[in-house]
Amino acid sequence: YNRQRLLVVANRLPVSAVRRGEDSWSLEISAGGLVSALLGVKEFDARWIGWAGVNVPDEVGQKSLTKTLAEKRCIPVFLDEEIVHQYYNGYCNNILWPLFHYLGLPQEDRLATTRSFQSQFAAYKKANLMFADVVNEHYEEGDVVWCHDYHLMFLPKCLKEYNSKMKVGWFLRTPFPSSEIHRTLPSRSELLRSVLAADLVGIYSTYARHFVSACTRILGLEGTPEGVEDQGKLTRVAAFPIGIDSERFIRALEVPDVIQHMKELKERFAGRKVMLGVDRLDIIKGIPQKILAFEKFLEENASWRDKVVLLQIAVPTRTDVPEYQKLTSQVHEIVGRINGRFGTLTAAPIHHLDRSLDFYALCALYAVTDVALVTSLRDGMNLVSYEFVACQEAKKGVLILSEFAGAAQSLGAGAILVNPWNITEVAASIGQALNMSSEEREKRHRHNFHHVKTHTSQEWAETFVSELNDTVIEAQLRI
Ligand code: UDP
Ligand code: G6P
Repeated sequence: YNRQRLLVVANRLPVSAVRRGEDSWSLEISAGGLVSALLGVKEFDARWIGWAGVNVPDEVGQKSLTKTLAEKRCIPVFLDEEIVHQYYNGYCNNILWPLFHYLGLPQEDRLATTRSFQSQFAAYKKANLMFADVVNEHYEEGDVVWCHDYHLMFLPKCLKEYNSKMKVGWFLRTPFPSSEIHRTLPSRSELLRSVLAADLVGIYSTYARHFVSACTRILGLEGTPEGVEDQGKLTRVAAFPIGIDSERFIRALEVPDVIQHMKELKERFAGRKVMLGVDRLDIIKGIPQKILAFEKFLEENASWRDKVVLLQIAVPTRTDVPEYQKLTSQVHEIVGRINGRFGTLTAAPIHHLDRSLDFYALCALYAVTDVALVTSLRDGMNLVSYEFVACQEAKKGVLILSEFAGAAQSLGAGAILVNPWNITEVAASIGQALNMSSEEREKRHRHNFHHVKTHTSQEWAETFVSELNDTVIEAQLRI
C-alpha cells in the first residue's frame, strides 16, 4: 500500500553537517527533543526539510551536501551567515524563545533588542520564505506538510499563498505565553495571523488555551472549542502531547556495548549514589538553580558528601547568542566553587560535561542513575524525563521534576514535583529521593513507565497527521 507522503519542515534537520573537504561531508545527529521525537516515526513516507547547521556559500559545497543529505531523506535550506545571525540567533533565540518561556530580556539587552527588532523580524520573514520555496519545489499533490516550532510561524501563510490546496499543519513544541505577554511583541498580530493560515495548529494543552485567547484578545477573532474562526474560516487548534520511541531505549539496554558501559559506570561510581542532569545548556533549563540546590543539600547533609555524585551533561547550544555565553560561564563558576568547597583529593561532587553523548552512552547513563534531576524554569514537554523513565525498569530510580515542565502533567504522579526557584525545596527533595524506600520507588516507577510506554512519539505523529487529513476534508464539506 502507499504510505502517506509527509514533508516535515523544521529549522533544524535531524542531522547536522560538518565539512571535511571541498565536496565531502560528515553528518552528526542533531541534539534536541524535536529530532528525537520524530526519529521514531516510521508510518509515513517522510522527507525532512531544514537547515543543516552550517554555512555553505559555494556551489560545489551546496551540491555535494544536497547529495549527501538525500541519503538520509533530508533536503537542505541554505541560510547565509547574515540571515542566521538575524533570524536564528536574533529573532528566534534572543526574542521568541525567551518570550515563549516567560523569561524577559535582560535589562541591558532590552534597548538594543528594541532597536534591532525590525531588521531581525525582516530576516525572520525572509528565512521563512526561503523554507517555503524549498517546500514548494518538493511538494507533490496530496502531501501533508508539517511545519514545526517558533522558527517557522510565518511559513503556513507563505505556503498557502503558493498553493491554497496544500495541507498545512503547524506544531509548537514550546510553551505559548499568556496573551498579556504575547501582546508585548511588536510583531504580535502578524505572527498570529500567519500561523492561522494553517489548517491545523498543534500545541501542548494549557498553551493551546493561551494561543486561542491571544487570537481572540489581540486579533479580535472568535475562539470556539474547535479552534479559531475568522469570517467563517476555521483554523483548528488542538492539544497533542508528545512522547518518545520508548522501545528504542528499552532495546538499547540489551546491546552488549551498552551493558559493558553500564558495568564500567557502576564500577567507577561504586559506593556512591548517582544523580543525573541531561540538558542543552539552555537558559530555560534551570541548571544554575539545580546546582545550587545540590550545594545546599551537601551543606546540610555532611554524611552524604562522599556518597553521592551529580553528573551534569550540558550539551552546548546556540553558542553565538550572548545570553547562552553568559550562562556557560556562570555555570562553570558555580561548579568550580562547589567542587572546590566539597571535593577531596580523589573525588569531586559534580562532574560537569560541556558536550553531547552518543545514544548508547546516554542510555547506559540513564540506566545506572539513582536520581534524575529536571529543573526547567519552563519547558514545553522535556523528553529527557521520559527517556530516563524508559531506561529504569531494572533500577527504579527517582525522578525529581520541575512543575513547569510539560511532563509534570503526565509524570507528576510518579515523580517528586518541585518549584526550581525554591532551592530549599529542591534540596529537601534530593534527600527524600536518596532515602526513598524501594516499595515507594517501585510504585512511582510503575506509574511513569506505563505512561511512557503507552504514549509514544509514533502515536503523537499519527494522531496529528490523521487529524490534519480530517480537518481538511471537513473544511471542504463546509464550503
Ligand atoms: N540529547 C542529545 N544529546 C545529548 C544529550 C541529550 O541529543 O548529549 C537529546 C535527549 O536524548 C533528548 C533531547 O536531546 O531527546 C532533549 O529533549 P528535551 O525535550 O528534553 O529538551 P530540548 O532540548 O528539546 O529543549
Ligand atoms: C528545542 C526546540 C527545537 C530545537 C531544539 C534544539 O527542542 O523546540 O526546535 O531544534 O531545541 O535547538 P537548536 O537551536 O539547536 O535547534
